[in-house]
Amino acid sequence: MSAGSSSVRAGRSGRTQPADASVDLGDPATFAEHDLSEFWRGLRDTRPVHWNPPTGKRRGFWVLSRHEDIMAVHRDDETFTSERGNVLVTLLEGGDAGAGKMLAVTDGPRHEQLRKVLLRSLGPRVLQPVADAVRANTRQLVREAVCRDECDFALEIASRIPMTTICNLLGVPESDRDFLLKQTKTALSADDDGVDETESAMARNEILLYFLDLVEERRSAPGEDLISTLAASTVDGAGLSDEDVVLNCYSLIIGGDETSRLTMIDSVSSLAAHPKQWQRLKNGLCSIDTAVDEVLRWASPSMHFGRSAVRDTEIHGVRIAKGDIVTLWHISANHDERVFDRPEVFDLGRRPNKHISFGYGPHFCVGSYLAKIEISELLMALRDFALDVEQTGDALRVHSNLLNGYHSLPVRLRPDHSGLARDNDANEVKR
Ligand code: HEM
Repeated sequence: MSAGSSSVRAGRSGRTQPADASVDLGDPATFAEHDLSEFWRGLRDTRPVHWNPPTGKRRGFWVLSRHEDIMAVHRDDETFTSERGNVLVTLLEGGDAGAGKMLAVTDGPRHEQLRKVLLRSLGPRVLQPVADAVRANTRQLVREAVCRDECDFALEIASRIPMTTICNLLGVPESDRDFLLKQTKTALSADDDGVDETESAMARNEILLYFLDLVEERRSAPGEDLISTLAASTVDGAGLSDEDVVLNCYSLIIGGDETSRLTMIDSVSSLAAHPKQWQRLKNGLCSIDTAVDEVLRWASPSMHFGRSAVRDTEIHGVRIAKGDIVTLWHISANHDERVFDRPEVFDLGRRPNKHISFGYGPHFCVGSYLAKIEISELLMALRDFALDVEQTGDALRVHSNLLNGYHSLPVRLRPDHSGLARDNDANEVKR
């Protein structure tokens, strides 16, 4: 880890340390009510293969908390499949409707081929125009925010960056974007515990139907967008069906919006809570690349992923039976003392930083390059246009056992007038 100033993480506002026996990781309320950092430390030290017992109608599942064990399961897609779901909600339901079609829940040779198709559209060279648009959009939003006295960073800025980016990639018309954002929020995280599973399922359905219409349109009039590319692609010698294309669009929207958005929101909340780290960023005393990796580690926006064992196996001498659900807690692995020096310190210059926020192995996030562009553009815009970052009210947490972070974050970004003027001059020269 780098030298330089750093700050120790305080417990998350108002949440209590739970008694071990009462922790149910399947219940979203667990994360809303408790700060689990001590719980995770205890598991990593003494119960690296922990059993979360069944409750009510919900079956039990294994919980892995150490970095090394989680990487080993991610690597071994022959013993641990994603095809019966890769997050608790689908694993506990007994499967994912997208299995064998949607990249994240497909394994084996079909996964490899589909992944190549998507990577072709998400690689550095192809993404340059998208990256330029992310930069312009982010700088404009942060500029507007510093000129207001206060804003809700989550609602007014973060919710308008990743969604705009994915929509640009997919060629979603401007007029449909608010609708999609609303449906995505309901489908996945549920900003409060008032949204039930039926509403989430309906929202998922709305997104799928929306994309079905768009796919039909693009088949008859292809464009330069990712939907047109997917619609024209072949896997195993056959063209992708409408269902294949729709499910993968869904996966890009779901995978690409929430996680990046929550990371951005957490980065602003963390910078407000750690003024010395903000000063390091502001004064160019750490690189943007190390800062991006540290905010990804710190935010750990997807707390877990999961797999099903396809045969009997063992981890640390504990027998895992065929069919068992094994959950991989990235949020714990990203604080594993076996891998990170002083993991409870938020250090924008941290190096090395082997966080696994993007996963690992065959399913490693295909959108990681794009996500890093978005987060770095945000950090650069804040560095250039804000003098400081102050949180002005309570942040509101998402209600989820998967996603970690806030859906509302009131802040004041004090304008850096010379930074704003420098940017105006640079834009004048370009024009
Ligand atoms: C896979 C995290 C942004 C699309 C994954 C996985 C993780 C992850 C942990 C592995 C899932 C597993 O092993 O089951 C994140 C985080 C992001 C982010 C933390 C932002 C901060 C994005 C973006 C996109 C995207 C921007 C799309 C443009 C996908 C897809 C997969 C995936 C399609 C499936 C890959 C596969 O199964 O081969 N992501 N992601 N993600 N992500 Fe991301």
